[in-house]
Amino acid sequence: MSADQDVIDPSTTAAWQELGALAYSLHDTTIRSLIDTDPSREEYLSASGARVHLDLSRQRVTADVLAALVRLADQTGVWERRDLMMSGGHINPTEDRAVLHTALRRPSGDELVVDGVDVVADVHVVLDRMGRFAEAVRSGSWTGATGQRIRSVINIGIGGSDLGPAMAEIALRAFAAEDVDFHFVSNVDPTDISTALTACEPATTLVIVASKTFTTLETMTNAAAARGWLVNSLGEAAVPRHFVAVSTNAEKVAEFGIDTDNMFGFWDWVGGRYSMDSSVGLSTMIAIGRDGFADMLRGFHAMDEHFQTAPAHANLPVLMGLTAVWNRDFLTIPTTAVLPYSQYLSRFPAYLQQLTMESNGKSVRADGAPVGYETGAIYWGEPGTNGQHSFYQLLHQGTSTVASDIIVVARSENPWGDQQDMLVANALAQASVLARGRTAEEVAADGTPPALVPHKVMPGNRPVSVLMVDRLDPFVLGALVALYEHSVFVQGAIWGIDSFDQWGVELGKKVAMGILDAMEEHRDGGFDPATDASLRLYRRLR
Ligand code: F6P
Repeated sequence: MSADQDVIDPSTTAAWQELGALAYSLHDTTIRSLIDTDPSREEYLSASGARVHLDLSRQRVTADVLAALVRLADQTGVWERRDLMMSGGHINPTEDRAVLHTALRRPSGDELVVDGVDVVADVHVVLDRMGRFAEAVRSGSWTGATGQRIRSVINIGIGGSDLGPAMAEIALRAFAAEDVDFHFVSNVDPTDISTALTACEPATTLVIVASKTFTTLETMTNAAAARGWLVNSLGEAAVPRHFVAVSTNAEKVAEFGIDTDNMFGFWDWVGGRYSMDSSVGLSTMIAIGRDGFADMLRGFHAMDEHFQTAPAHANLPVLMGLTAVWNRDFLTIPTTAVLPYSQYLSRFPAYLQQLTMESNGKSVRADGAPVGYETGAIYWGEPGTNGQHSFYQLLHQGTSTVASDIIVVARSENPWGDQQDMLVANALAQASVLARGRTAEEVAADGTPPALVPHKVMPGNRPVSVLMVDRLDPFVLGALVALYEHSVFVQGAIWGIDSFDQWGVELGKKVAMGILDAMEEHRDGGFDPATDASLRLYRRLR
């Protein structure tokens, strides 16, 4: 897979053949029958770590399936690859990079020397600078150019430089400073930046321009717009008090006109979608403070340690990743709905879309050979109970099987009457109905008119994982994100793909630049006939 590890085709392993046979033998076995015939199932199909409890008893798996999946991980070198990742091996071969997001949350005093550099020491130098800056903004000792304290923070970034901090800002609102409001601008649609700027006062606004490369079209365009807005109102000299950058590219930051003293760096071994715990989380740190951010990092780290040390059958990311491979390749389920029963996690599915699909949406292995099996599932979702009144109809009775991750937060930060119990009752009810369904006999026994019986039958047999946490605090959010990061890793390692590159997004960007050039130069298309026709129509309607 890297220079240090060969790529293994998982479908040639003995475990893969075994799993194929198991899937065949389970063809007529439903989740309901698995649950009803084995009351102890929950005991060996659930595990806890880093304050997260994972229950796979509503998955269509047996102890034999689980054992064969663990053998698949053994035979595809998952453990060696995990250790290589955590020790700084270049496991992203197409970019020849290490993959070290786990170093971002190692405690100060740990040492990890990669290519002659102690990366943990470097991480803590940046964390300390971020901490001083974030606390200065929070206390009001960092002011804008007119001496007023900062009341609004606008994070301008896209993809990994937006989704994590935007998700965390909502998730951790109960722990955030109340006198600063946060805006996240990502889209090049001018509505996005203009909405944020309209809501803010230049004199009390801090703009964080977050971009690993500092070349991303959307981010640089929005950052230039925000800069113009500020300079118009307060003059050029105000920029250093109102603009900071988060990037790996000091040269481009300086070129843009942000003082590199006001830049918070990170490293090429942090992938964009794995960066919310790097300086990309500066807005999160301003919201929840240096200590809150440190708690979040402790949650990430606790899950990292669990992933590295817990035995496979009690290891949350391993169990989750193995189940995902089983569902995708052996039960041929193409999609997973992420259903957090927490309004604070309303952007968690969107965050996971990038993490899962940009990582594992690949159809060649790391050595360039085409895969002969399915890889990354489609992830999507909405918080419950809202989704129940929208797309759950298809989850329950549609012709495609959708797997679900139901996330339950036991304690509300805003208790109100018995609403939290109502919320959790709904989560558990949905998990049960998706997995078990309702037979025609059961429906008829309710006195349902015969003509309606087929409409009310619930096929069930939809695999569900239930994740439960005590409360959604910074520690738990870190642990949850790390859980999904490592689950994605396990899947990618089994499939033999490079989960850390994203070549598939490049061509669209290049073609867009060509079309933009044609627009600006008032040139006729000269693209393909379909694009030319759309361009002509756009010009007429514009
Ligand atoms: O185009 C995809 C992508 O490269 C993501 O992987 C990344 O998170 C995002 O764009 C933003 O990139 P940057 O942080 O360099 O602006």
